[in-house]
Amino acid sequence: MSTTIMQVKHLYKIFSTQDNDSKEKEAYTALQEGTSVEEVTKKQQVVVALNDVTLDVEEGKILVIIGLSGSGKSTLIRCLNLLHRPTAGEVLYKGINILDYSHNQMQEFRRTKVAMVFQNFGLMSHRNVLQNVVYGLEVRGIERGQREKQATAMLEMVGLQGWENKDIRSLSGGMKQRVGIARALTNNPEILLMDEAFSVLDPLVRNDLQFELLRIQEKMLKTIIFITHDINEAFKLGDKVAILRDGQLIQVATPEEMLNNPANDYVQRFINNVDTTKVLTVRSITEVPGALVREGVGANLAVKIMGVNGVSSAYVLDSHMHYKGLLPLNAALAVAGGKKSFAEALLDIPCITDPDILISDIVQMSADSVFPLPVIDKDGLFLGIVTKAAVLTSLQK
Ligand SMILES: Nc1ncnc2c1ncn2[C@@H]1O[C@H](COP(=O)(O)OP(=O)(O)OP(=O)(O)O)[C@@H](O)[C@H]1O
Ligand SMILES: [Mg+2]
Repeated sequence: MSTTIMQVKHLYKIFSTQDNDSKEKEAYTALQEGTSVEEVTKKQQVVVALNDVTLDVEEGKILVIIGLSGSGKSTLIRCLNLLHRPTAGEVLYKGINILDYSHNQMQEFRRTKVAMVFQNFGLMSHRNVLQNVVYGLEVRGIERGQREKQATAMLEMVGLQGWENKDIRSLSGGMKQRVGIARALTNNPEILLMDEAFSVLDPLVRNDLQFELLRIQEKMLKTIIFITHDINEAFKLGDKVAILRDGQLIQVATPEEMLNNPANDYVQRFINNVDTTKVLTVRSITEVPGALVREGVGANLAVKIMGVNGVSSAYVLDSHMHYKGLLPLNAALAVAGGKKSFAEALLDIPCITDPDILISDIVQMSADSVFPLPVIDKDGLFLGIVTKAAVLTSLQK
């Protein structure tokens, strides 16, 4: 069961291009009265950055927000810690509308509940690595020994032990962002907000940090809201992915659901760029084999079953559906002719023992195997087979 930690309800953020707050409200009222966004935008000289967004953020999960440039991603994430004050709607943290927070409550919320990791790192170049990471604790008046202990532990978490005294300017982009993440984590926030945090990094460094983030998340069970332009990054990191378009939420779903049931053409166009083998699991392409035989049936029956189904091998199970091995037609014929025992005829071919691994992880195994690969669960129960054709089709999607 997942718990909702934050929610936005009917959230609107309208920016006045004239820096005129009353325009914001007037535009909102006009929208409520049914005027179209185009008309409101023109008439009131505003930008409707968020248009009636309702979204749940699940505790301890990674929610990725994706959308084209200008779709409202940064505005949405900035409404979660009220760096932007919404024009209308609610932002709930554990059921309480943070728009009603007093100044002190808001300060407490920002210091202890949420932390942000920025695209351009936002580090202070006159401070060294450790001094950057302790900053938040310093502001909170935590005693020096304690704050340095916490900061050192977080630097270790992001793989920067030994770098405490280094000058920020001497670090690569990837290392700077590790410092950014350590700094955000040092306050021990429940929620990490990451706005295109990896976008300026080159692909290899980005890959490392994605992996690192997943590792950290698994260890610390933070709630992470991660913004990206990159659908592959979204599908790699997101437990759920939310797609924004022109300030409206188009679809929120798990990567697999989104891939299988895109809400519309806009979503489809995004996912056309996805490497599906990195999203779909083996389970999704597992199928029932043409020929299944029970251990202990006669070889003649096994040969017949293969013949009827037009295949030249059968998968053999015991009476409790445990997978026992593969019986090739020629071996079955040898058993029938009394040249071999049934047990001797069984081939021990490689098996997929976890149906929830990604297809990308078994491409080579499938290519190397003459036979479709049997898939079993951790108790050895037979779930089906994966054919080369199914693997190749998913590569082409
Ligand atoms: N402070 C502001 N004043 C006026 N308009 C703004 C302001 N901030 C954002 N906007 C507008 O609101 C819309 C949404 O902007 P936002 O920055 O949220 O988009 P985004 O999805 O983060 O885009 P990007 O991928 O380029 O970062 C854009 O049209 C933008 O021009
Ligand atoms: Mg942005």
